Amino acid sequence: MDQQLEQIRTEALAVIAAADDETAVETARVKYLGRAGSVSLLSEGMKSLPKEDKPRIGKLLNEVRTAVAEALDARKSALEAERDSKALSQIDISLPGTPAAVGSLHPITQLLDRAIQVFRRMGFALADGPDIETEWHCFDALNTPADHPARNEQDTFYLPDGRLLRTQTSTVQVRTMEAMPPPVRIIAPGGVYRRDEVDATHLAQFTQIEGLYVDENVTLGDLKGTIEFFFRELLGNDVQVRMRPHFFPFTEPSFEIDIKAAALGRGDKWLELAGCGMVDPAVFEEINRKRGDNAYDPEKFTGFAFGFGLDRLAMILCGVPDIRLLIENDSRFLAQYAAL
Ligand code: DAH
Repeated sequence: MDQQLEQIRTEALAVIAAADDETAVETARVKYLGRAGSVSLLSEGMKSLPKEDKPRIGKLLNEVRTAVAEALDARKSALEAERDSKALSQIDISLPGTPAAVGSLHPITQLLDRAIQVFRRMGFALADGPDIETEWHCFDALNTPADHPARNEQDTFYLPDGRLLRTQTSTVQVRTMEAMPPPVRIIAPGGVYRRDEVDATHLAQFTQIEGLYVDENVTLGDLKGTIEFFFRELLGNDVQVRMRPHFFPFTEPSFEIDIKAAALGRGDKWLELAGCGMVDPAVFEEINRKRGDNAYDPEKFTGFAFGFGLDRLAMILCGVPDIRLLIENDSRFLAQYAAL
């Protein structure tokens, strides 16, 4: 019996080593360890052995059974590993993946975010107003005479009911003062609309930021300091700011603001960017009339206001040659301005 067992062990290990797929391994398992397999049959034969042989043969039998079982397991794992690595070798890990399209913020949005951050540091809160406005909010309350050319249908989009698309964010000055007494310190970014012929430098819709600060003792010095600080933060310490006397109906005195800065890349040329001035007492009086109180007492309060367009500034900072690119939403254009 010892001999038989050794023979089975040798044969089984050779058969298992030669098994070249999982079916062959299973066949070998049945042949040697199955219920009618040779190892099992020999262990049946144990019963008829003389008593003194039983422990030795029993031990050998266990050894053979364990050796065969381990060989089967090892072969099975080896075949599995081989199959896995073959499957993996079909995958070309050097192939580039499918790129995900990463979006970026529109240049105007980026500029707006930066502008808001700077004004926040100076204590300006964000204010808002509708794009569709009444004539009173857009013109009358802002001391704009009835025959002012801006009201002309040539310049302003009117709705059939007499309302209009706001031509300036200055409307939010009016809405803010209607809603709250002084002090107010707000900025109001948003879209404005004019009947301009659309070309490389004009759109019928563009973006402005409005500012308003009303309190006791607000001076022209405060206005100048605010404007200078803002543009220095936005464009760098070399910024030069020039204020030229101008006319706006709702401020007196009024100025246009020109900027010169290396960041604008225009050499020695000034860029006309904004309008500003000290709030005209006539505006406070109209607001008081509407409010039905004297909250904006012109004897007690003064204020400054400013407004500027963002489109031209964004175009210069981004090197955009045609303003229409800003509204076409072409992702090839937008993808170039991940960070201004
Ligand atoms: N609303 C003016 C415009 O669209 C810009 C402006 C000028 C705003 C003077 C102001 C201001 O607040 O004080 O041209």
